[in-house]
Amino acid sequence: MIKQSLFALSFLLLFVFHCSTTLAQPAPAPAPPGPTNVTKILEKAGQYTILIRLLKSTKVGDQLNQQLNDSNNGITFFAPTDNAFSNLKAGTLNGLTDEQKVELIQFHILPTFLSISNFQTVSNPVRTQAGDSRPGEFPLNVTTSGNQVNVTSGLVNTTVGGTVYSDNQLAVYQVDSVLLPQDIFAPKPPAPAPAPSQPKAKTKKKTADSPSGDATVDASGAVSLTRHGILMSIGVAVIAGLSL
Ligand SMILES: *[C@@H]1O[C@H](CO)[C@@H](O)[C@H](O)[C@H]1NC(C)=O
Ligand SMILES: *[C@@H]1O[C@H](CO)[C@@H](O)[C@H](O)[C@H]1NC(C)=O
Ligand SMILES: *[C@@H]1O[C@H](CO)[C@@H](O)[C@H](O)[C@H]1NC(C)=O
Ligand SMILES: *[C@@H]1O[C@H](CO)[C@@H](O)[C@H](O)[C@H]1NC(C)=O
Ligand SMILES: *[C@@H]1O[C@H](CO)[C@@H](O)[C@H](O)[C@H]1NC(C)=O
Repeated sequence: MIKQSLFALSFLLLFVFHCSTTLAQPAPAPAPPGPTNVTKILEKAGQYTILIRLLKSTKVGDQLNQQLNDSNNGITFFAPTDNAFSNLKAGTLNGLTDEQKVELIQFHILPTFLSISNFQTVSNPVRTQAGDSRPGEFPLNVTTSGNQVNVTSGLVNTTVGGTVYSDNQLAVYQVDSVLLPQDIFAPKPPAPAPAPSQPKAKTKKKTADSPSGDATVDASGAVSLTRHGILMSIGVAVIAGLSL
């Protein structure tokens, strides 16, 4: 009798278990399980094969996923379509160094989550992952009118095409042009940039008329010489004193 009811009970349990697993199966998880994967989102959306390739080759895709997992500020990503890349002048991508490719992709990424309505209140230039937003570097400006959002790098103007994905942490927007940053694609103004002018400063040193960094180097050299001299004379004095 007990044996029988145990047997029945186990059948019932098996049946319930079977029902619950088969019932659970058809309901798809509302969000992709695990950490957000930008590549996966773009793959699902289609028409982003070139961007996906660049995200992989530059490793920016991994950085993005890591950042999404680690930070609370979120990410806004302007995703250029394959069409946008194929509209570039031939050889544009191939002409870039690996570092420039990284910067190009990072220029499309803002280190904060922005909904379409959030764009109305951002102040220009907005900061991108590529860094410096001064003119000639990586400035990106946003203008809005209602739900229309325009983005400009100064070299490229485009309108945000639509929302590919948004979850209050990550926003991916379609753009139909690649945003070309000034730092890479605009000829540099002949400003007195400190870094490239250094070799010139060295040649100027010989004319000895520039109160540049070289002067301080010479001065410190002189200081160490005099110190050396003082030490020498102290040494001589000590030796002289000892020999007396
Ligand atoms: C993200 O998704 C892509 C494509 O589905 C896959 O190749 C990659 O391994 C995933 N990355 C992680 C960290 O899960
Ligand atoms: C995501 O962050 C959590 C806690 O901050 C950490 O335990 C986990 O390893 C991270 N996952 C990845 C894929 O980096
Ligand atoms: C955005 O760009 C389009 C096309 O150039 C233009 O017609 C529109 O006025 C711009 N809107 C804003 C808010 O700048
Ligand atoms: C971006 O906006 C700033 C501030 O309004 C402005 O000074 C700058 O010229 C703009 N740059 C571009 C590329 O539109
Ligand atoms: C972008 O838009 C601005 C303002 O509407 C315009 O002055 C500029 O010529 C445009 N630039 C390009 C490259 O289309």
